[in-house]
Amino acid sequence: MATNRTFTMLKPDSLEKGNTGSILEKINAAGFKIVAMKQTQMTVRDAQTFYAVHNERPFFNDLVEFMTRGPIVAAILEKENAVEDFRTLIGATNPEEAAEGTIRKLFADSMSENAVHGSDSDENAAIEGAFHFSGREVF
Ligand code: CMP
Repeated sequence: MATNRTFTMLKPDSLEKGNTGSILEKINAAGFKIVAMKQTQMTVRDAQTFYAVHNERPFFNDLVEFMTRGPIVAAILEKENAVEDFRTLIGATNPEEAAEGTIRKLFADSMSENAVHGSDSDENAAIEGAFHFSGREVF
């Protein structure tokens, strides 16, 4: 059964372009409740750990460099069917393939600088949320 929480990061490109408020507005308008949120900057070790599943991929070093080059906004979101609905809201990984009106279509520049992260499963949502937040930061 689907849990009701997912994890997101607004990536450094979103903060650099001043899109934090606009993206959070979209998330709220789509019916997600923010149950945890912080602005933070990942260290190289953080990013290597968070994206460990991709460490054999040719884009891994660029991904780590991008994700550590400036602050991010990390959040845990609550809504019925959260993981799947959030992935629909953000659109395809490659913004050129993302549906009209999705966050990546509106705010992302490329496959690598794609504005937001969204967990791909309930299991990863729980792991990723716990990576960034302690129990007392989640409401
Ligand atoms: P996300 O799905 O948040 O997590 C993995 C990230 O790796 C993905 O977003 C992209 O930012 C990046 N990524 C995935 N595939 C590629 C690719 N082919 N080239 C560059 N970056 C990629």
